[in-house]
Amino acid sequence: MMRPVVTGLAAVVFASVAMAQQPDTFGRQFAPSERNRGIGWRLDDRLAFLGQKLFFDARLSGTGTTACASCHDPSYAFAEPRRVSISDSGRHGPRNAPSLVDVGSLPRLMWDGRFRTLEEQALSPFQRGEMGIGVDQAVQRVSSDPQYRHLFRVALGHQPTADGVARALAAFQRTLVSLPSRVDRFLVNNETAILTPLEQNGFYIFNRRAACSNCHQLFPLRPDGREHSQPVLMDFRFHNLGVGYRSGGFDDTGRYGHSLIKAEWGAFRTPSLRNSARTPPYMHDGSLATLEDVVEFYSAGGRPNPNLSPLIRPLFLHGYEKAALVAFLRALTDQDCE
Ligand code: HEC
Ligand code: HEC
Repeated sequence: MMRPVVTGLAAVVFASVAMAQQPDTFGRQFAPSERNRGIGWRLDDRLAFLGQKLFFDARLSGTGTTACASCHDPSYAFAEPRRVSISDSGRHGPRNAPSLVDVGSLPRLMWDGRFRTLEEQALSPFQRGEMGIGVDQAVQRVSSDPQYRHLFRVALGHQPTADGVARALAAFQRTLVSLPSRVDRFLVNNETAILTPLEQNGFYIFNRRAACSNCHQLFPLRPDGREHSQPVLMDFRFHNLGVGYRSGGFDDTGRYGHSLIKAEWGAFRTPSLRNSARTPPYMHDGSLATLEDVVEFYSAGGRPNPNLSPLIRPLFLHGYEKAALVAFLRALTDQDCE
């Protein structure tokens, strides 16, 4: 079923809501090296501060060279430039690491949505071999450092534990929030001149002709119905676009691998498009190198397969329309890092 696309009026209505909900900037700090380079994060509590240290610390890995940030790199909006991840021991995984910006507002994590909370997710890189050691060994290493012992005491009132590591990493990740992009200023502040004519045409194609907004939604709503200050550009659902379909099957069956529901065979979670310009390559398997390739893929109607989403069909976009869509996608970049 097609959901309605945003209309000019709806954009204006949501604009005034979003204006009233600008996140306060109290306590927002930038690590100096990340200023101008990446996303801002708010470190307004001790747990998040501890989490930041853990997130960037390669001592939590077997070889001492892999940190969470190795695959979720701030220079790439906390995604990775590789096609698929490479674990601490050099093993290629099946998937590309998604951006962690705004991850705190997602109801389901991972491309197949198998985790519900950041706390639950945080220990999986230790269980799946990405970090090369188990969490108990990581906790031992952390415990041998007096600074960590101090930070754990201050943040949690006890010595380092696996649960504490998970809580701190989760708290840090909740501080990774996107800043307004030019598209937000266009929609929220009604600054019509902020987008070039090409980008504005891209916006209308995104909404209407190509109906990308059926899935990458422009409404500033969270799944719990609370308003988000900026459109999230996702629908918190899973769709089959045929990415990775070859010789009659999928190497990675996506959501189906977790739910075993036939209708979810080859379906993956709709990702946000915020900062996409900074997160190539694209799709769960990193198989599309550029935004131009992505638009080409949609124009051709995805990759036909027995479970292709009914919302995906050939669009026959012209050269100008493709360029406009790409220009619009690029305008979704946080302004501080354009
Ligand atoms: C070797 C690379 C690698 C390392 C190291 C790594 N990750 Fe990831 N991360 C991934 C990949 C790949 C995915 C997507 C996996 C999937 O969908 O099955 C992912 C997914 C996630 C997600 C879900 C994001 C979303 O949008 O649903 C979170 C949160 C996350 N990682 C946090 C962490 C934390 C915290 C650490 C450190 C403890 C970490 N990652 C270490 C590669 C990595
Ligand atoms: C039926 C829902 C749906 C529609 C319609 C849709 N998308 Fe997507 N989009 C998705 C899903 C699901 C993925 C992830 C697919 C995968 O990895 O297998 C995705 C991935 C993407 C990505 C890659 C993001 C990343 O970080 O890897 C971009 C860019 C994108 N879509 C842009 C668009 C554009 C532009 C349009 C319109 C031409 C569009 N989408 C229409 C659901 C949709």
